[in-house]
This record gives sequence, structure tokens and C-alpha cells, in this order.
Amino acid sequence: MTTLTTTPLAPLLDRLFDEADAASAETEAAVADLSDEARARLMRSKTDYRDLYGRLKNAPLAISRETGTLLYMLARSSHARTIVEFGTSFGISTLHLAAALKDNGGGRLITSEFEPSKVAQARANLTAGGLIDLVEIREGDALHTLSVGLPDTIDLLLLDGAKALYPEILSLVEGRLRPGALIVADNAEMSPDYVAYVRSPGGGYLSLPFAKDVELSMRM
Ligand SMILES: C[S@@+](CC[C@H](N)C(=O)[O-])C[C@H]1O[C@@H](n2cnc3c(N)ncnc32)[C@H](O)[C@@H]1O
Repeated sequence: MTTLTTTPLAPLLDRLFDEADAASAETEAAVADLSDEARARLMRSKTDYRDLYGRLKNAPLAISRETGTLLYMLARSSHARTIVEFGTSFGISTLHLAAALKDNGGGRLITSEFEPSKVAQARANLTAGGLIDLVEIREGDALHTLSVGLPDTIDLLLLDGAKALYPEILSLVEGRLRPGALIVADNAEMSPDYVAYVRSPGGGYLSLPFAKDVELSMRM
């Protein structure tokens, strides 16, 4: 029996994933007027990401069910106590990570989101899941909110905000990652600079593509 597989979290996650699946047409409609080139440019931009995510402010944009289970497994098996997350959205990934912290005996999860309505939704979901006490949601651009007040050591980092910022966010956290800390980067193929960095020989990480969308890295 774990927090992940029991009430209230299990039925809550089922509902949130069902709602995320059902929202895919609406999500597509929010960017339907953009050409493929314009979408690719926004995804790669280190300055215009706010435009893209503003259009998507009602979209869950959630990790997959499999990635959620993977996050829980990695956080549990590494006995994580301190976790940082870039990109909260409605808090689906946050719920998995916070559940692992609870089952590890407690800890602290700092997560970051710049859309105020998403912060409110994530807070409501974490409250419904009985996990809000473990989570600090920092509202604002993560380039600022994650630049101060982090724990001395960090056990796990989830990168799931604007893809072009993965290198910058990693650099904010890097000095605090303990040896053996894990980094999960969702949709990392959209952040080639990040992938090149964590895979570079002698760069301080072991890293490999894992499952469908994830780059999994370990701090050496
Ligand atoms: C892919 S979604 C996150 C999904 C979430 N991890 C989940 O699985 O439930 C990305 C989120 O990051 C937020 N975001 C993107 N860039 C950000 C930034 N620089 N600072 C804060 N939030 C950001 C977006 O508003 C969006 O809600």
C-alpha cells in the first residue's frame, strides 16, 4: 500500500489524467493558428515562451501516466527528501513526487509555475490529494523563483517547463545536486542543448534517453 495507489490520491490522479486526455483537442485549438515553424520557434525561444504558455494556460500539458509512475519510483528508490520541479501546471507530476516524499517519511518539494490560474489549480489538487503540506509552489518565472532559497542539497530535479530553458534551470540547481541526484527532463528532445550538455563526456553526469519522452540523468 502506498500513497500513490490508495485513496484519495489514486482516484484523483485517474480523474486528472482523464481530464488531461479529454483536453487534447482544446489544447491543439489554442495553437491552431500557428504554423509548424512558428510553433517550433516558440518552443526553441529563450524569450518568447511566455506567449506560448499564455495560450496554453487552460491546458494540463501533463506528463504521461507512465512518466508519473516513473517519477514516483525514482523518488522512492533514491530515498529523495528534497525535490525541485520546473513547470507545475495543474500539479499532476507534483502529486506523484509529493506522494513519494510522503512515503519516504517526509521532505520538501519546491515547484515553479508562472500562470496564476494554474498555481491555484495545482494548490487545489495537492490539497485534495492530502499532500499540500509537503509542497511549496513558487509563482513567477522559474528563472527568478528558483534562483534563491533552495535547499543546500537536492536529491531530484524534474524539468518540465519551457524546453529552451532547461540548461538555465539546471545551472541554477546544479551546485546543490548531491552526488547520485537524479534529473528527469520531460520532452528533452525539444532541448538539444540540454541533452548535449548532460551527455557530454566528463561533464559530470551519466545520462540516457529513457522510456518514450524522458532524458534521465544522474549527477556524478
Ligand atoms: C508541460 S507543463 C508542466 C506539466 C506538469 N509537470 C505536469 O505533469 O502536471 C509546463 C508548465 O510550465 C510552465 N512554465 C513554462 N515556462 C515556465 C517558466 N519559465 N517559469 C515558470 N513556469 C513555466 C507553463 O505555464 C506550464 O504550465
